[in-house]
Amino acid sequence: MIEQCKLIEFPQNGDERGHLVVVEGNQDIPFAIQRVFYIYGSDADVIRGRHANYRSEFVLINVAGTSKVKVDDGANQKVFHLDRPHIGIYLPKLIWKDMYAFSSDSVLLCLASEHYDAEEYIRDYNTYIRIIRDREALIGNP
Ligand code: TYD
Repeated sequence: MIEQCKLIEFPQNGDERGHLVVVEGNQDIPFAIQRVFYIYGSDADVIRGRHANYRSEFVLINVAGTSKVKVDDGANQKVFHLDRPHIGIYLPKLIWKDMYAFSSDSVLLCLASEHYDAEEYIRDYNTYIRIIRDREALIGNP
């Protein structure tokens, strides 16, 4: 699963007036965008996220500043650096994610495939591991 977490480089439509980055659902990213939220004002020592989602897929883009995203599929972990406004990370469903190391000017834009539903958030890591193990027992290791 972790190999499905991928950096996406969006084209920068730059000219002498500056840059413009376009993210079209189902074209530049692999889902239709149902929800947009953004995170800013988090101190450098804060860890956000700390959850997985049953259904939501995400693309995270630091449109300003920088942060790191640690992804975990229950077996492997990987750290991504978000440090340019035209770079995003795609996260499939059922990935545990931590966002941290926010720069003071960080604005982390989050595009989501689903509307907000607190019920589809898995916020306990041990529960997450149990769900992943149960799923593997049911359908094998995808
Ligand atoms: P939370 O999921 O803890 O943020 P993060 O994972 O980025 O650290 O969300 C913080 C609060 O905002 C929490 O009370 C739920 C609420 N929230 C919504 O109402 N809608 C949303 O789309 C999101 C992402 C959060």
